[in-house]
Amino acid sequence: MTQILEIRDLKALAKRRVPKLFFDYADSGAWTEGTYRANEEDFSKIKLRQRVLVDMTNRSLETTMIGQEVSMPVALAPTGLTGMQHADGEMLAAQAAEAYGVPFTLSTMSICSIEDVASVTTKPFWFQLYVMRERGFVLDLIDRAKAAKCSALVLTLDLQILGQRHKDLRNGLSAPPRLTPKHLWMMATRPRWCMKMLGTKRRTFRNIVGHAKGVTELSSLHSWTAEQFDPQLSWKDVEWIKERWGGPLILKGILDVEDAKIAAKTGADAIVVSNHGGRQLDGAPSSISMLPRIVDAVGGEIEVHLDGGIRSGQDVLKAVALGAKGTFIGRPFLYGLGAMGKEGVTLALDIIRKEMDITMALCGKRRIADVSRDIIADYAM
Ligand SMILES: Cc1cc2nc3c(=O)[nH]c(=O)nc-3n(C[C@H](O)[C@H](O)[C@H](O)COP(=O)(O)O)c2cc1C
Repeated sequence: MTQILEIRDLKALAKRRVPKLFFDYADSGAWTEGTYRANEEDFSKIKLRQRVLVDMTNRSLETTMIGQEVSMPVALAPTGLTGMQHADGEMLAAQAAEAYGVPFTLSTMSICSIEDVASVTTKPFWFQLYVMRERGFVLDLIDRAKAAKCSALVLTLDLQILGQRHKDLRNGLSAPPRLTPKHLWMMATRPRWCMKMLGTKRRTFRNIVGHAKGVTELSSLHSWTAEQFDPQLSWKDVEWIKERWGGPLILKGILDVEDAKIAAKTGADAIVVSNHGGRQLDGAPSSISMLPRIVDAVGGEIEVHLDGGIRSGQDVLKAVALGAKGTFIGRPFLYGLGAMGKEGVTLALDIIRKEMDITMALCGKRRIADVSRDIIADYAM
C-alpha cells in the first residue's frame, strides 16, 4: 500500500474501499461544482510569511472553540449518511474525535442516532439541527440532544431547499442502497465495506425512523425528507430554538456580511462561515474568500468559525490567521473513515495537526493563540 502522508492519499484509498454511490456523495458539489472547487483552490492563493531565527520550542495548538477547550482549532463537521462511508461511521468518528480532544458534530441526517453516539462516548459531542416543518419532531430532537448532554447545538441555515448534485442523481443514491443490479455491483466490488455493513444493524436514518410521525420504515422516509425541510425558516425561529435549547448555539451557513450582522444580534455563541462545502449554491464565493470581510464586520461581537475546502493543516492555519477562532472539516474526515474506519479519522486529524504545527513554526509562531494576520504575506481572492 502507498504511504499515507496527506489527505489526498486517504481520499484515494476511500475511493477504492467505499461503494461508488457513497464515495461520490461525499466527493460532490452542486451543479458545476465550481464553488466546491473554489473552496479548495482559494486557500492556495494565500501566501504565508517565512520567518527565521525565532525560538520554535514548546509549541502549542491548544485553544478554545465557544469557550470549550480543544487540542487544535478543528472540529468534525456534521455530515449526513456518515454511517454509509463505513459501518457505524458516526460512532467511530465520534470516538476518534474524543480521543483527539476535538469536537465531533452529529448530523440530524446521520445513520447512527444521538443515543448510539452517546452510548460509545464519554465526553459531550455537538449536535447539528435541521429544522423541519413538523415542529414537534424538532422539539423532540432538541430534547434528545439535551438528554444526551450535547455541549453545543449547531443550527444549519443554508439547506432549507436542497441544491442539486448530479452525481447523486446519476447514481440513484439512497440509504440503505436499493438492491438494483447497479447498486449490487457497486457494493460487490467493495467486499470489506459489505462485511462491516452486514455486521451492524445501523443502516438507516436512526435519528428519524421511529421518532418522526408516520416514519416507521424507509420507503416513506425519502418523501418525508423532501417535504419536511421548512423553506419558511426565518431569523424569528432562531429565537425559540435558542430558548428551547438553552445551551451554546452555533449558526452554520453564513456567507454574507449582512447575514453575519443579523446573526451576531441573535445572541448565538458563534457563526460558521460556510457554503455547505459547495453543495448548495453553486456560484457562491469560497468560504475562505468571505472570511476576512465577515470577521471585520462582526468579529468583535461573535466568535467566527469557518468550513469548506480545508485539506491540510496549512489551510487551518490560514483560516485562523484570517480571524477564524475554529474550523470544521467535512470531507477530510469522511475520506479517513471510508479508507480505514476509526484509525483513518485519527490519521486525518494527525496529518492536519502535524502540518499545522510545522507551518506555524516556520511562520515564526509557537502558539496558535498568537497567530494573526501578520503571518500572511499576501492574499488575492
Ligand atoms: C457528505 C456530506 C454530507 C453533509 N451533510 C451535512 C449535514 O447533514 N448537515 C450539515 O449541516 N452540513 C452537512 N454537510 C456540510 C458540512 O458540514 C461542511 O459544511 C462541509 O463539508 C465543509 O466542507 P469540506 O467538506 O470541504 O470540509 C455535509 C457535507 C458533506 C461533504
